[in-house]
Amino acid sequence: SAPKADGARGLRFAPVAPNTADQVTVPSGYGQNVVIRWGEPILRGAPAFDAENQTAAAQAKQFGYNNDFLSLLPLRGERDRQVLVANHEYTDEILMFRGYDAENPTREQVEVAWAAHGLSVVVVQEEHRTGRLTAVSRHHLNRRLHTTSAFELTGPAAGSALVRTSADPAGRTVLGTLNNCAGGTTPWGTTLHGEENFNQYFAHGSSATDKRYGIGAGATERKWERFDKRFDVAQEPNEPHRFGWVVELDPYDPESTPRKRTALGRFKHEAAQPRLTEDGRPVVYMGDDERFDYFYKFVSSKRMMKGDSRRARAHNLTLLDEGTLYVAKLTGDSPAAEIDGTGKLPNDGEFDGSGTWIPLATAGPDGAVSHVPGMTAEEVFVFTRIAGDKAGATKMDRPEDVEPSPRTGRVYVALTNNTNRGKGTNPGADEANPRNLNKHGQILELAEHWDDPASDGFAWRLFLVAGDPNDPATYFAGYPKEKVSPISCPDNVAFDPHGNLWISTDGNQLGSHDGLFGVAVHGDRRGELKQFLTVPKGAETCGPLIQDRRVLVAVQHPGEIDGASVEKPASTWPDGPGKIVRPSVVSVWRADGRDIGV
Ligand code: FEO
Ligand code: CA
Ligand code: CA
Ligand code: CA
Repeated sequence: SAPKADGARGLRFAPVAPNTADQVTVPSGYGQNVVIRWGEPILRGAPAFDAENQTAAAQAKQFGYNNDFLSLLPLRGERDRQVLVANHEYTDEILMFRGYDAENPTREQVEVAWAAHGLSVVVVQEEHRTGRLTAVSRHHLNRRLHTTSAFELTGPAAGSALVRTSADPAGRTVLGTLNNCAGGTTPWGTTLHGEENFNQYFAHGSSATDKRYGIGAGATERKWERFDKRFDVAQEPNEPHRFGWVVELDPYDPESTPRKRTALGRFKHEAAQPRLTEDGRPVVYMGDDERFDYFYKFVSSKRMMKGDSRRARAHNLTLLDEGTLYVAKLTGDSPAAEIDGTGKLPNDGEFDGSGTWIPLATAGPDGAVSHVPGMTAEEVFVFTRIAGDKAGATKMDRPEDVEPSPRTGRVYVALTNNTNRGKGTNPGADEANPRNLNKHGQILELAEHWDDPASDGFAWRLFLVAGDPNDPATYFAGYPKEKVSPISCPDNVAFDPHGNLWISTDGNQLGSHDGLFGVAVHGDRRGELKQFLTVPKGAETCGPLIQDRRVLVAVQHPGEIDGASVEKPASTWPDGPGKIVRPSVVSVWRADGRDIGV
């Protein structure tokens, strides 16, 4: 059984030391299993995975590539089963296809990549008395959604001239979802999926708005524009406007069309995690993962209906179509001269201050209203970044995943890094983003005024300034640094049943692999950060989910190292030497069957 270890309740495990092992390393006394791998059959008629002869038809019925966000939802009436929903953010063809020629991909390879993007729904079975999980293939709820599946645009930008294309003159039906990074799970039993770096799929951008969204003027790396002209902006200038949204999926209805909720704005959505107001209206916190981009929230004007009736479910599927979209402006409380860009704490001992939520536009039952002079409401929702520019929002260090604490209501924002902060003519350090050339990132803690998520103002402080604790430019909420694990590039955040924050990393700059960490956010152990696991070479740690008896992680892009390929693998996880590397979901549990970290 697990050795006794010190820590806050839920975090009593012996921390995993930083390492470069090509495996998932878990604390002593813990076990693990691979729940599902890229290519495993999940739908009826899916063939077994054949790495050397993968086809688009097979991939469309198999688990997709590069699993990121994970959600587990209850499945009533089926013993020891839950519904797993996963994002498949992107494909890495050089690690998928032997002999891949990046200049001349074949149609079959491109169509495999289309089918390997998107979302998966797959029912999972718990093994009695452990945290082991296995996939139930061919369950009637299992589903794949990918680049040619139909999605409905809803809310204030649906049908707008800005989203009409030659294939969809009504501007309401989009084929596909792309680059689904992190996401969220709603209290009404649906999942939310952020469309993040969608710009990379579009060639020949030319407008100012294309530029603001990072759509390049040249060909794309994957060359999809050769196989479907909608990926060529010169031919279909509005097609990119149909990506960069938050998708809402009803995993309990395999016939339902997932919706792109335009009231939540269009940017590189990392994630979207709701919290309810006292009177039951959802508020969704959202980051735009780009250096110097913004942090947002959407406040619905509609109340959630309780219960699982058909009427309640139908009503709740309209909650994210009406409300107000806001962007955050943060002001520090220390003199600017004390923020010197090194990460040295100001004289009041904290990076902290106040903030305001600036309204950008409101979507109502009879149309939408812009709050940004010079922009229509449709423009605000489609070109939200430009609305944030005009509103004078605070330029952040890559706002990634956001999670409100279910216990305290405080909101935790992972700011992963920003190596361009203070470089050249770029903005320099401010109190919320206090390090120039910021390699390691920070976590911001936000408390809404009167604890009301619909409030127009908030207080904030940095909870964690990441890095090697021996580096004076780090901060762990004031906890003694000799007692914490090193951490770099916080990306995804989640809460466990005890109210501890868990943080997964992407792009560790300390010379060891990425991993997953737990930290107490209240009590006398606040700031005591402990590493729970590390992932294989080249991988990032995604989708952490912490239940009583298991921790679930998505191991994304294992083996993704410059120069690696199928022929020259950097990692052979999870199947060992001679086998192609496969992004996979892993469940970790205590070998003695007890709860995690107690
Ligand atoms: Fe896909 Fe911002 O990570
Ligand atoms: Ca991410
Ligand atoms: Ca201060
Ligand atoms: Ca990431």
